[in-house]
Amino acid sequence: MNPLLRVLVVLALVGLAWFGYSRVRIEPNREPEVVVAGVDMPVVDHLPEMQLVSSESCAECHQAVFDEWRGSHHWFAWLNPEPRRKELSDNFRNKDCIPCHAPRPMLEVGFGQRPLEREDRREDGVNCFTCHKYQNAMLTPNGLGEGAAGAPCQPVTFEPLREMTLCAPCHDQHKVKQDWLRSRFAVEGPDRKDCNDCHMPWVDGSSTDGQGGRDRHRSHAFHGAHDPAMLKTAGSLRATKVAEGRPLAAAIKELSGRDFDPGGRQAGARTVLVEVANTGTGHNLPADERHRAVDVEVRWVPAVGEASPELRLARFRNPYRHEFELVNPFKDRAGEVLTFPVREGEFGFDTEQVRLLPVFNPERKVFYEESTQLAAGESRLIWFDLPEATSGRLEVRLYYKLQPYMSNNDAVTMAAVDLDF
Ligand code: HEC
Ligand code: HEC
Ligand code: HEC
Ligand code: HEC
Ligand code: HEC
Repeated sequence: MNPLLRVLVVLALVGLAWFGYSRVRIEPNREPEVVVAGVDMPVVDHLPEMQLVSSESCAECHQAVFDEWRGSHHWFAWLNPEPRRKELSDNFRNKDCIPCHAPRPMLEVGFGQRPLEREDRREDGVNCFTCHKYQNAMLTPNGLGEGAAGAPCQPVTFEPLREMTLCAPCHDQHKVKQDWLRSRFAVEGPDRKDCNDCHMPWVDGSSTDGQGGRDRHRSHAFHGAHDPAMLKTAGSLRATKVAEGRPLAAAIKELSGRDFDPGGRQAGARTVLVEVANTGTGHNLPADERHRAVDVEVRWVPAVGEASPELRLARFRNPYRHEFELVNPFKDRAGEVLTFPVREGEFGFDTEQVRLLPVFNPERKVFYEESTQLAAGESRLIWFDLPEATSGRLEVRLYYKLQPYMSNNDAVTMAAVDLDF
């Protein structure tokens, strides 16, 4: 080829390429390509307009998933009286509360971006469209069967949908992901569990009635703090009587496996040792929502006569600033051994507690000074001496409270241990 011609051809190609590039960028009526942290959204331009307008319409073919969602707090997010309380959103008159409690599709705003508020069907709360709808398609992280081609929901595979990026704009206000990253559940290997392994466990039955080819699916019940069965897996409570004169260090080792010696102390005549551990939660316990509280309480039930009222030994929570008084009574003395009498009604005993701090992680920017939450895997110890009174039973309870003023009767009993004396 003539060198001049060659230069002209090269220039023409470059010009075409440049033209093509800029054309894509300035084309009107087209959503800008959303790219978050290197994630490319699928191209779904070939699909006709979606005819489905409500979550109810999905029930026809996805009955099991629909029923799970319909019983979940995602569905409840708009109708739930809790956020509507006068001192909170005042019936959603505080508009700031609407974007997460009645959101538009997340993928429409941009994968990983803060949601926007929805105008219609707010009673559906966090609906199917919130997590699945992208332009004219419903995205799924799974590969699809043949039936998908004719389905009115026009499903398209998008693997990153199963990642925390989908949940984070609404759920990472208090750094639950960072908490999880520090836990053993985030380590590659057989113990690994991500958010969906615990919050969308596999359950029996196809997600698409009669189709889809799988006989199990990911539950959409999104169990969390409102599910007693889930709460019973969240933590553990162990309590034991320690023989008189036994070094506490040995009893601590036996009960919790930890090497810790509280100043060479030995057990008294009626020493009780309690360990509370966050064994089953993939992040802090209690988690995200700052109203929650986990309490350790004891009650003495004498063989003859009336039981004592319950006494709170410890509280685990991350309080709001105006609720600092509603935290662990021992919060200021973390790491120290405390001795003080507790009296209520007829019942009294001396309590000593030591709070073993989690290893401080400088990456966790939200190590609130007032927080007494249990990090994933963390254990705390409490011990006390009962008065040498009559025989009876000591009841030790671990309670989960949706808000810090909740009575023990209304709380979920996460674990219980009774010791006879
Ligand atoms: C008339 C039946 C029908 C209706 C109505 C319907 N779908 Fe589907 N959907 C299907 C079929 C068939 C598939 C393909 C199943 C497969 O291949 O795994 C599917 C697949 C899906 C998938 C991917 C499933 C997977 O296996 O990963 C999602 C997500 C989905 N639908 C969401 C919805 C939503 C949300 C609605 C309501 C707005 C809806 N669908 C309404 C029939 C329907
Ligand atoms: C658009 C915002 C939004 C997105 C996205 C979202 N959620 Fe939620 N989620 C909420 C709201 C709001 C509630 C609580 C509603 C209420 O109780 O009033 C909630 C409740 C929950 C609960 C129940 C907690 C309880 O106390 O019972 C779990 C578990 C949960 N979400 C997990 C997830 C997971 C996992 C994802 C990602 C796959 C996700 N959510 C995506 C807004 C969202
Ligand atoms: C960034 C998203 C987002 C915004 C904005 C938001 N919420 Fe929420 N809200 C959530 C999520 C996510 C949950 C579920 C939390 C959890 O279970 O950990 C929730 C749960 C709640 C709950 C607990 C419900 C229950 O039954 O226990 C209350 C109360 C609440 N929100 C009130 C409000 C109020 C009031 C506002 C406005 C001032 C608001 N929210 C704004 C995301 C949001
Ligand atoms: C809070 C976000 C969220 C909401 C709300 C939601 N989904 Fe999903 N859905 C997901 C995620 C994430 C997956 C993929 C889970 C995985 O495989 O890891 C999924 C998976 C599915 C699947 C495939 C399930 C399987 O395992 O076979 C179907 C079908 C589906 N969703 C339909 C629906 C329908 C219908 C609704 C409303 C009734 C709905 N989803 C509401 C997040 C959501
Ligand atoms: C090993 C299992 C496990 C893993 C992994 C896990 N969680 Fe949880 N999660 C729980 C348990 C158990 C609870 C109930 C106890 C509690 O609320 O602290 C819970 C509670 C929650 C709640 C409800 C908090 C409230 O107060 O209403 C939210 C929201 C939540 N988890 C989000 C997440 C997110 C996001 C991830 C991933 C970064 C995740 N979880 C990973 C087990 C897990």
